[in-house]
Amino acid sequence: MNHLPFLRHLILFIALNLSAFATSQDQFVYSGFAGVNLILDGVATVTPNGLLELTNGTVRLKGHAFHPTPFQFSKTPTGAVQSFSASYVFAIHCVQPHIYGHGIAFLLAASSDFSDTMPTQYMGLINNHNNGNATNHFFAVELDTNQNVEFNDIDNNHVGIDINGLTSMSSSSAGYFEDDNEMQAWVEYDGDSKQINVTLAPINMAKPIKPLLTTTYNLSRVLTDMVYVGFSSSTGSFMARQYVLGWSFGVNKPAPAIDITKLAKLPREGPKPRSKILEIVMPILTAAFVIVVGTIFILLVRRRLRYAELRENWEVEFGPHRFSFKDLFRATERFKNKNLLGVGGFGRVYKGVLPLSKLKIAVKRISHDSKQGMKEFVAEIVSIGHLQHRNLVKLHGYCRRKGELILVYEYMSNGSLDKYLYDQENKPTLTWAQRFRIIKGIASGLLYLHEEWEKVVLHRDIKPSNVLLDDELNARLGDFGLARLYDHGSDPQTTHVVGTIGYLAPKLARTNKASPLTDVYAFGMLVLEVTCGRKPIDRTAQGNQIMLVDWVLDRWHEGFPIDKVDTKLQGGYNVDEACLTLKLGLLCSHPFINLRPNMRQVMQYLNGDIPPPEINPTHTGFNLLSLMQNKDFDPESMTNSSTISDLSGGR
Ligand SMILES: Nc1ncnc2c1ncn2[C@@H]1O[C@H](COP(=O)(O)OP(=O)(O)OP(=O)(O)O)[C@@H](O)[C@H]1O
Ligand SMILES: *[C@@H]1O[C@H](CO)[C@@H](O)[C@H](O)[C@H]1NC(C)=O
Ligand SMILES: *[C@@H]1O[C@H](CO)[C@@H](O)[C@H](O)[C@H]1NC(C)=O
Ligand SMILES: *[C@@H]1O[C@H](CO)[C@@H](O)[C@H](O)[C@H]1NC(C)=O
Ligand SMILES: *[C@@H]1O[C@H](CO)[C@@H](O)[C@H](O)[C@H]1NC(C)=O
Ligand SMILES: *[C@@H]1O[C@H](CO)[C@@H](O)[C@H](O)[C@H]1NC(C)=O
Ligand SMILES: *[C@@H]1O[C@H](CO)[C@@H](O)[C@H](O)[C@H]1NC(C)=O
Ligand SMILES: [Mg+2]
Repeated sequence: MNHLPFLRHLILFIALNLSAFATSQDQFVYSGFAGVNLILDGVATVTPNGLLELTNGTVRLKGHAFHPTPFQFSKTPTGAVQSFSASYVFAIHCVQPHIYGHGIAFLLAASSDFSDTMPTQYMGLINNHNNGNATNHFFAVELDTNQNVEFNDIDNNHVGIDINGLTSMSSSSAGYFEDDNEMQAWVEYDGDSKQINVTLAPINMAKPIKPLLTTTYNLSRVLTDMVYVGFSSSTGSFMARQYVLGWSFGVNKPAPAIDITKLAKLPREGPKPRSKILEIVMPILTAAFVIVVGTIFILLVRRRLRYAELRENWEVEFGPHRFSFKDLFRATERFKNKNLLGVGGFGRVYKGVLPLSKLKIAVKRISHDSKQGMKEFVAEIVSIGHLQHRNLVKLHGYCRRKGELILVYEYMSNGSLDKYLYDQENKPTLTWAQRFRIIKGIASGLLYLHEEWEKVVLHRDIKPSNVLLDDELNARLGDFGLARLYDHGSDPQTTHVVGTIGYLAPKLARTNKASPLTDVYAFGMLVLEVTCGRKPIDRTAQGNQIMLVDWVLDRWHEGFPIDKVDTKLQGGYNVDEACLTLKLGLLCSHPFINLRPNMRQVMQYLNGDIPPPEINPTHTGFNLLSLMQNKDFDPESMTNSSTISDLSGGR
């Protein structure tokens, strides 16, 4: 009983060997040659990626490759050669266009020793004296790419059936002439009918039904029992590379299908003629690529330029007050015209909403080329940004670009006072109560700037367009301190007067020396404007200039000047308050600097804490005002004038 396991092993052993024999001796398939054991000679090699390279591009060489073991071909009783079937994928590379080597032969031979053969036209199959000698014992299917009259070749691209020599017993033009394309060939032999079929097709096509070449020959006359199968190839005077990419073979059964997808890629040859598709598609692709890359580059450059900013080391400390231009650009929707709030002496003002915080802002773009004084100015802007008062427009921060300074203010929904006074944009007429509140608001804001903050801040450009109104119609002073930007570095000889004509105190117009009292002068003008609804300098129908101060003073002595208060109010005003503002306006815009009250006094007058001094136009310097606007009149020299002394005498 204990010999049974041994028996089982023996059976298993035999079975394994039988199956191995069956697969290895009846058929094989190589979808690529990597790691495949072949008998190679001459220049034939297997490339690392699995191509069987029969010739390597060097002239006048030959190469052979055989399946390592021979096949038992004859059925033992009769000695007749059995049926077989082969298929292979090959490629012939030419180095010069359309000049090929001598081709590839599929070979069945009694021996694998073809050393006594010659290259060039002999294809590594024969030598120059044994063509057709019956002792050669081979059957070959030549794929001949060279016409040799010596062997009665029909053309330079044909398929031929060769027995023991190169003079084909049957041949046919290959028909296909595709450069460098892989082709597939099928060779079939029927042992009974002795029929030989050769079929050829490009690799991407299925096997054609009709063979290219059909002939009948009794191969039992050529081949003996054991038969080697393989390939032979040679080069002549022209360089060529000849490849077999895949190969299958079967005895008494069809050759297994080659898996086309597994075949190795052919190497690219030198100046390979480009395919038509590449010739058309490549330039388009290249152009498209260039355009895409170019566009991206331009967009990036534009983006850089668009958002480019000017940033200097000294700005680090102001970092929190600095806005990125990109944010402002987005906030104002690319500085669209529909967001333009107005154009002033310094530049354009746009409305915007900050992307993240949704804060409404007014963005003022000031073109400014000089770098001089910029540091001081930005420092001042930032310190001004710390000012906090209910009658001031908050300055959120700034941004700097080349030649440009951008200021970011709180947005004032009700716009600027000038639009209400002169009925632009169909704004409603302000009531007296609103006007009086606005005057008080401005006074309060200006007092804060002059006296209540740690530093004295001069506004320098008080006028209705710089008085903005918030949701609740509170007056808020904007643009304070901005005039200084143009003050810095300006040449005192060619004084660039900062401020607005009509609001400039006479002394300032002359010497460009700003002081709190020059702000008071402009404030006085503004008060008169709000009360009278007229501009500081108006024109009559005849084109004559009318100074607002002169016009108010006209017939002043005749009692309360009812006709001076804005007619749009249609009498709807508080007489005492109107009287107070007219007096205050005149007093503040007094040509003599030392007769102007300061802002603290102004507040006291407005609050009714102290009554304002009486104004007697005939005894004051007011009548000199129009004179001073034109002539070289120095009001400083008049400060001690006796004529003025009675002005401050009180009510
Ligand atoms: N913070 C703001 N909120 C709402 N609108 C504003 C704001 N700042 C300015 N504006 C509007 O923009 C317009 C232009 O302002 P800008 O300050 O540039 O010119 P201006 O006041 O007329 O003259 P100046 O350059 O002498 O100040 C103003 O008339 C005002 O209507
Ligand atoms: C081809 O093979 C021969 C012999 O091995 C060698 O001398 C020659 O340099 C090879 N040519 C190329 C192009 O590799
Ligand atoms: C054929 O080849 C054999 C062996 O090489 C030689 O002996 C014989 O003479 C050859 N026959 C002819 C016809 O050349
Ligand atoms: C050869 O081709 C013909 C025509 O298609 C076919 O009838 C015949 O069976 C083929 N013979 C072999 C051996 O495949
Ligand atoms: C084929 O050739 C062999 C060997 O010469 C011969 O024995 C056989 O009879 C031949 N067969 C036919 C069909 O001619
Ligand atoms: C001022 O703005 C507020 C809110 O936007 C609005 O309700 C009010 O009517 C405006 N006042 C004037 C006089 O336009
Ligand atoms: C004005 O008066 C003061 C003192 O009253 C005097 O010091 C000053 O010199 C006078 N100025 C002029 C220009 O007369
Ligand atoms: Mg302004």
